[in-house]
Amino acid sequence: MDRIRIRGGHRLSGEIPISGAKNAALKLMAASLLSAEPLTLANVPRLADVRAMSELLMSFGVGIQMTLSPQLGEGDTMRLEAKEITSVFASYDMVRKMRASFQVLAPLLARQGQAKVSLPGGCAIGARPVELHLSALTQMGAQVELADGYVIATAPNGLTGAEIVFPFVSVGATETAMMAATLAKGTTRIVNAAREPEITDLGNCLIAMGAEIWGLGSSEITVQGVEKLHGAAYRVMPDRIEAGTYAIAAAIAGGEVELLGASHETIASLLALLTRSGAVVSDTPRGLKIAMNGSRPRPSDVTTAPYPGFPTDLQAQIMALMTVADGTSVIREKIFENRFMHVPELARMGADVRIDGDTATVRGVARLKGAPVMATDLRASVSLVLAGLAAEGETMVGRVYHLDRGFDRLEEKLSRAGADISRVPE
Ligand code: UD1
Repeated sequence: MDRIRIRGGHRLSGEIPISGAKNAALKLMAASLLSAEPLTLANVPRLADVRAMSELLMSFGVGIQMTLSPQLGEGDTMRLEAKEITSVFASYDMVRKMRASFQVLAPLLARQGQAKVSLPGGCAIGARPVELHLSALTQMGAQVELADGYVIATAPNGLTGAEIVFPFVSVGATETAMMAATLAKGTTRIVNAAREPEITDLGNCLIAMGAEIWGLGSSEITVQGVEKLHGAAYRVMPDRIEAGTYAIAAAIAGGEVELLGASHETIASLLALLTRSGAVVSDTPRGLKIAMNGSRPRPSDVTTAPYPGFPTDLQAQIMALMTVADGTSVIREKIFENRFMHVPELARMGADVRIDGDTATVRGVARLKGAPVMATDLRASVSLVLAGLAAEGETMVGRVYHLDRGFDRLEEKLSRAGADISRVPE
């Protein structure tokens, strides 16, 4: 299996193009199941998760055509046509690999009146149950059974609009309810909806397909069901987690980087924190610029929260930055349990981090040292790459498939910006 080798100590400079958002693209792809007409997505990132979702959709009979762009900065184009759905079965093998594949449940059920989708099962970052998804569908009139690790959902007479009040905020459950409601009879009100920009992106794509949706980006979303959705062309939003990761890369390695296509608003909580830590952030006509003069970052306390709070998907990366800060930072993880798996790996590089429940106390050290480390999940693995950029000597990150799930040509983007990073085949 390939590894990523980083030789630390190089400042970054130049431009990094930001790809389309993984967490939007996967749901937009699933939304193609809601219509018999084609959905054409532009700015699709080149990722293992996108390939896995394509395979899953093809197993339902969706026809997919990809047009690959020769340019790193332009995403690929994907045409998905779910003219006839020939299977409504998503196996354990598919859903286990990627939790987002559970998001096919609602569109299959809404369009076909039935679906059998594996429960996501154990996942490295905490329990991640799906009871909110299932209760939303039940409230809309679906019969839901659990058998042998599968969700078997039926709605022979279609779904009906309902008032769904979520007890806490869930990105996936909000998307499930919203997709199901587009083809339900009557009106659905989703109360305590998640406000993540990827949900707004999905909602806007559904609107382009003929859905009637109000309140996107707020905590109350209203959907008026329609008989049918039609084809559309839609451009995937830029990836705010990728943009945030490269912003932190510039802060940890020093230098000045322009993030092409990045949107300030979607990572405002991170950019405010980077500014407090000593980075200079400025908006440019093409995106954002992050500059750090090479002095150690100032420490900062961080608590993850639903949008617009600090994203859990940037927690590991900000911790990498805080390991070299000039003082102590306290990082609290409030979204997922067990999302500190990067800590023992960062410790191998000389980081000083103490964990107590959901709280990590990070005492900054003057310098990290390169080491062989192991990726454990998607965001954790990129935090090791960031640490490697700042470390003395060589860092080898193993189990790179985690990175390939969610970062589009990471080593190409970072090496073009001056990092010494390469993929080493084993
Ligand atoms: C999505 C993102 C993920 C991000 C997360 C939070 C995708 C593919 N993934 O994941 O990258 O980290 O949002 O921003 O878009 N929960 C329940 N019951 C449920 C549903 C959720 O207890 O039925 C819990 C989860 O275990 C977790 C919390 O709610 O502790 C938030 O999860 P959720 O917002 O649903 O995350 P995902 O949609 O899985």
